[in-house]
Amino acid sequence: MKFSKFFKRCVEIGIDADVRGKKQIEKMLKKEQKRQEKLEGVEKELADHERTWNPYQDCRIINGTDSVDVKRLAVGIDIETPEMLLIDRMREKGEKVDAVLIHHPEGRALADLDKVMDLQVDVLASLGVPVNHSEAHLRPRQDRVWRSIHADNLFRTERAAELLSIPAFCCHTITDNLVWRYIEKHICSKQYDDLGEILNALLEIPEYKHYALKGNPPIIVNGSKGSRPGKITATEFTGGTNGPEEQLIAQSHAGVGTILSMHVTDKTLEEAKKHHVNMVQCSHMASDALGINLMLDILGKEEKHLSTLDMSGFIRVKRK
Ligand SMILES: [Fe+2]
Ligand SMILES: [Fe+2]
Repeated sequence: MKFSKFFKRCVEIGIDADVRGKKQIEKMLKKEQKRQEKLEGVEKELADHERTWNPYQDCRIINGTDSVDVKRLAVGIDIETPEMLLIDRMREKGEKVDAVLIHHPEGRALADLDKVMDLQVDVLASLGVPVNHSEAHLRPRQDRVWRSIHADNLFRTERAAELLSIPAFCCHTITDNLVWRYIEKHICSKQYDDLGEILNALLEIPEYKHYALKGNPPIIVNGSKGSRPGKITATEFTGGTNGPEEQLIAQSHAGVGTILSMHVTDKTLEEAKKHHVNMVQCSHMASDALGINLMLDILGKEEKHLSTLDMSGFIRVKRK
């Protein structure tokens, strides 16, 4: 499959798994298109056309042209200059790599990370948290993320890929949407007597098992193996990066008893203790790998010869 078509399919797969639904996303994209049509001067020059069809600010091609036919992907959760050099070295040794799939955003996808966080409002709304509350909680956190990323050296990986002529693209929220939906369906919607049973259910998923065998299992960070779960949710799996701790309080008020998460900040943990919300920290890398695998399973049906070179935390697990 040609590079840009391949990436467009990734975006479509992300939309299919998105909590907001296709209709709401299409409406949003059309609105942006109309807004851009009216721009003039420097604003027109700086407009990001990608935003008229791709709702994921943290997902985009950071290097490469359409002449690439994507069959073999190097896949990693964090790919920076060292991994680019590794890929170049592997190519030199005869390994075929057509393009690189990066999970954690780099380049422009990283520069715009704060903008994808709006999705958190819709994820929380699906649990009954009022959107006006979530928006108000989220804004200051988004501003902090924006200011912090703004000062970073954002384009090192992108430039390394350019210099080494390695096509590369980021899929962050796209695959996080997939893992969020998967965990909601296969874990959160089921009944458990206690948190211990949830840990066992997670360990039946090959990615979590693999990481557990390496000493990185799902862990309970608040509550105990014997605690009753109550209402279970996986709100922390998608939406760019951690939301503010106020979101935990709002979820507690909405009746959530247990939150499954990829990573728990100290502030969120503090609030979890205060509000008696159980928290399970599933392995971050296993969770990210699971999301990528779900996307590759779909793409693999369309591109029969798709194969991966696994690196930087990623392991390929195929599902039917
Ligand atoms: Fe992720
Ligand atoms: Fe991640």
